[in-house]
Amino acid sequence: MSSARIPLIAGNWKMHETIAEAEQLIAALLPALSTVSGVDVAICPPFLALQAMVESTRGSRVQVYAQNMHHAPEGAYTGEVAAPMLTEVGVHGVLLGHSERREMFGESDRELAQKLPVALDAGLTPVLCVGETEDERERGDTERKLRHQVQEDLAHVPDDQLGDLVIAYEPIWAIGTGQVATPEQAEEAIGFIRALVADRAPEQAERTRLLYGGSVNPDNAAELLALPDVDGALVGGASLDATSFAAIVAAG
Ligand code: PGA
Repeated sequence: MSSARIPLIAGNWKMHETIAEAEQLIAALLPALSTVSGVDVAICPPFLALQAMVESTRGSRVQVYAQNMHHAPEGAYTGEVAAPMLTEVGVHGVLLGHSERREMFGESDRELAQKLPVALDAGLTPVLCVGETEDERERGDTERKLRHQVQEDLAHVPDDQLGDLVIAYEPIWAIGTGQVATPEQAEEAIGFIRALVADRAPEQAERTRLLYGGSVNPDNAAELLALPDVDGALVGGASLDATSFAAIVAAG
């Protein structure tokens, strides 16, 4: 990774951890991270545990991100959560467009295009997730898919804010499967994403942090994180174990 960009290791807890369980996990994680430096760390707990995790991580290097957000500041959107509700409890960032939300909950590029500028305006660091399915990779459509997602989802982000974004490349076939992308596949896709951002604003693209996600674990993290365009990792399963997650952070 480039020395100009501080690496970010983010743990996506998905729909795991009650508040009581989250307290146990963070109590194990914080001491394991105490010697780490030069890397940003975020956890993405479920909504209900956000406030407790903000309080438990206060004064530590760990930031707290939400897993989703609605674009409207308030309104008749049953079951949704708005940016001011996240910032009120001290949340620092938000995952947007995770493939599970796209595939299982019908999240569209149109919605994501609305959400990204709202998150940035609220002072939340957005982590936009993009990536191809196994079929798309086999058909040779990886770049077409990534181009479509990046161009559509960032359509309303002003050029001068592109550097404030985080984009996670998560090939869908690698998520939760134990089948990690090869370093060549990861670098090729992430380099392509950086080039797409550079098409709009070359100097901003040097600041945009690009993460790899999909079956990252303590054994494969160092190799992935050493790639020139990879600025960190979005970690699912392995982030639920304090020792594993701390080992991945140490590799960053
Ligand atoms: P995984 O999940 O690390 O369990 O593959 C990654 C993700 O979905 O963000």
